[in-house]
Amino acid sequence: MKHLKKLLAVFAAALMLLSVLPAAAAETADTTLRFNGDGTFKIMLFADPQDDEDLEETTTALMCEALDKYQPDLVVYLGDNTVANGYDNQYKAIEAVTKPVVDRGIPYALVFGNHDEEHNVTKEELLAIYQSFGTCLTYDAVPALTGCGNCNIPIYSSDGAKIAFNLWMIDSNMYNADPEVGGYDYVHQDQLDWYLETAAALKAENGGEPVPAMDFQHIVIPEIFDELYVELPVSLGKLSENRNGKYYSLLPVFTRLNGYWLEVPCPPNVYDGQLAAWKEAGDVIAEFHGHDHNNSYQVNIEGVDVVNVPSCGCNSYSKDITRGCGLITLHENDPANYDYELVRMFDLALAEDSAIPNAQGGKAKAYYALVKALDAVVQAMFKVFGLFYKVFPDGLL
Ligand SMILES: [Fe+2]
Repeated sequence: MKHLKKLLAVFAAALMLLSVLPAAAAETADTTLRFNGDGTFKIMLFADPQDDEDLEETTTALMCEALDKYQPDLVVYLGDNTVANGYDNQYKAIEAVTKPVVDRGIPYALVFGNHDEEHNVTKEELLAIYQSFGTCLTYDAVPALTGCGNCNIPIYSSDGAKIAFNLWMIDSNMYNADPEVGGYDYVHQDQLDWYLETAAALKAENGGEPVPAMDFQHIVIPEIFDELYVELPVSLGKLSENRNGKYYSLLPVFTRLNGYWLEVPCPPNVYDGQLAAWKEAGDVIAEFHGHDHNNSYQVNIEGVDVVNVPSCGCNSYSKDITRGCGLITLHENDPANYDYELVRMFDLALAEDSAIPNAQGGKAKAYYALVKALDAVVQAMFKVFGLFYKVFPDGLL
C-alpha cells in the first residue's frame, strides 16, 4: 500500500510537470536566426528615424509598407532611432518606432547613434525599453565595454548545424571627449579588442575559417575620406576638407559615386583602427551605417563594402529623393555575394494602396512620380560614372 501511494505521488508529479512544460517552452520562444529553406536571409535597415513620441505618419507608413512588400527576416535600426525628451516620452517613441516591426512578429536589432542618449535617458535604460518590445536581439555583451549594445548575432545555417553568418552590432559612440580633437566619437580600442577576441572564437568554432560577417553601426569609418576624396598636398583653408591632419578636395571623386552624395560624410576625426581590425579578423565583408541622412553611396574600402543607408525618417532632415530603407539579401551558399537595394519612399508611395500620400505630411502621387523621374536621370548618371570608373579606376588626376 505504501509503495502504491509512493507510485501514485510520482505519477501525479510527472503529470504536473508535463502540464507545466509546454507553457514554459512557449514563454521562452526560439529567437535563433536561421537561413530560410531557400538559402536566403533578408535584413531590412531603418536608419535615423530620429523622431519623438509622435512618430510622423509618413515614417510609419514607409516602414509598414516596406515590411509588407519585402517581408524581411530581421530588421536593424541603425541609430538616432528616437529623440524624445525624458523616460516616458522615450518609452513611447521606442514603442512607436518598433511597432511596425513588433506587430508583424519580426525580430529586430539596433545600434545607438549620437543622438539617442541626448535626452536624459541612458543607453542602458533605452536598451531595456527596446528589450520590453517584441523580439529585440541586441544585448550588451560586455557591459564594461565603451558604449552600449555591442554584441554579435549569429545566423545559423538552414539545417541549424552551424553558424553560417554573423552580424556585429557596434556602438560608434557620440562625441569625442577630447576638445582638442572634437567632432564625433569613434569605436574604442576595448571594443575592437572584444571584437577581435569574439571573431577569433567564432573562427575557431568554424574549423579555422572566419565566419562571414557584416558590421552595423551609426557612424562611418574615417577612411571614407581617403577613399572618396582626393588628398591634397596642402590645406586650401575653407576650400579643402581638413581632417585627421590631412587635406582633401571639397568634392568627392564623382566616378566613385553609385548613389547620392548630398552632404559631406561625418566620420570621427581620428583613425580608430576599426578597418584594420576587420582586415585582421578577415570576417567583415560589408559595413552599413546611417548618420549622414542624405547619402546613399556604397564604396569598397580595402575589401570591405561601406554602405551609407539614408534616413527613413520624415521628421529630421532628409530628402525625398533619398529617403527609404536598406534591404540586404544574404545567400547561404555564397555569403560574400549578398544583394543590396535601397527601398525608396517614392516607389512605395506610388503603389496603388499606399497610405503615404494621404498620411499627415504626405504629398500627392504626382509629386512622388516627379521625384522618381528625376531620380531616373540621376541613376543613369551614376551608371555613366560607374563605366568611367571601370575604364579609369585610378581616375584622371
Ligand atoms: Fe541622425
